[in-house]
Amino acid sequence: MKKLCIVMVGLPARGKSTIACRLRESLEEENINVAIFNNGEIRRSMLPENTASASFFSPENQEGVRLREWIARLNLDTARQFLEEQGDIAILDATNISRERRSRICRAMERIPVLFIECVNDDEELLATSIAHKTKISEFGHMTMSEAIRNFRDRIQFYAGQYEPLDRESNHVVLNSLQNRVVQEKTSDNIPHYPRIRDILVSDMIQNLYLIRHGETYYNQERRIGGDSPLTEKGLCQAELLGGHFQTTRIPFIFTSSKRRTIQMAQPIIGAQGECKHVPLPEFDEIKSGICDSLTYDEIRERHPEIHIARSMDKYHYIYPDGEGYITLQTRIQLGIKKALYLSGSAEHIVIIGHQAVNRMILSYFLYRRQEDVPYIYIPQDKYFHIVSTQTKKLFELKRF
Ligand code: F6P
Repeated sequence: MKKLCIVMVGLPARGKSTIACRLRESLEEENINVAIFNNGEIRRSMLPENTASASFFSPENQEGVRLREWIARLNLDTARQFLEEQGDIAILDATNISRERRSRICRAMERIPVLFIECVNDDEELLATSIAHKTKISEFGHMTMSEAIRNFRDRIQFYAGQYEPLDRESNHVVLNSLQNRVVQEKTSDNIPHYPRIRDILVSDMIQNLYLIRHGETYYNQERRIGGDSPLTEKGLCQAELLGGHFQTTRIPFIFTSSKRRTIQMAQPIIGAQGECKHVPLPEFDEIKSGICDSLTYDEIRERHPEIHIARSMDKYHYIYPDGEGYITLQTRIQLGIKKALYLSGSAEHIVIIGHQAVNRMILSYFLYRRQEDVPYIYIPQDKYFHIVSTQTKKLFELKRF
């Protein structure tokens, strides 16, 4: 089998390791022997002194520069050895922001083709959430939360100051790692497995997504739409049942909307897990019903018959006055899904707790439905969808909890 070296490039917290893991998992399914060589892991395990503080990454810190180069060389040598022996694809996972470092890799690999994958993503909000998550690892244990975040941000600044984007490298792909979109691509050499690799880069990979709707609310009891109603007694019981149901499944991430009902529904799961990161995403807020917000369906029919009629005639395209329609929901729901997948990285199990219209849109993202059928997808409050979507497996299962 032809050998390949993949080199990740990008500032910290741009999704490089997630992409590297996704490549390894997918390629291994095809019996390709892949190994990741991560500089950060070596730094954390081998360097005796504390290297989490930003000063370690300052270009002025000569000892820091020396140590980081030493780690890069060590990984390069080990990767080279892996490829000379049993390995098929070695992935060098580090920032690799300088041209000098990148040409050194090409020289060391000699005849083995090198593919650079640069991850870019400038979504500030996502970066903040990602940094908050990254600074929870033990190397920041001796700092307060705000110190850790400040140090991580300063570290990024040090890298940003020296960043040399990909341009002259013969084989490179620039990937928007939030949208999974190739924004630039050049392959001069014959890159083994390239069509497969490209496909993995642009695909969403979901090991296990549990898509849940919040339990019963006071508004649901009255058939009232929108608002921010809390759960009823029955809704709280449903939340407890849900927490119990997932007790033995390790859920590292749970995404909700910013509304009370989804957050209340998530509480028992969070409580039953050792460590579970809760991320409320406003992208998953329920469809905005504008002037109809907080009305019952009967009140809409009586007070705004024109809305009732127009909506029944074309529910997917109808947009509430001052509100949204299914058609306009699409963009923000897709962004919410991308954010959830980006933040949860290669987590094996994730939960999204959303709303009726929102969950219909999330489902239709993974499961083809004609537009006119989407607003009628059945979204119960005592069952959830288990979704698996990898390149080799698609699964949709409606399960009771
Ligand atoms: O009734 C609950 C609810 O989530 C409302 O808040 C929302 O307007 C509605 O469902 C969406 O469903 P439909 O599009 O069928 O009215």
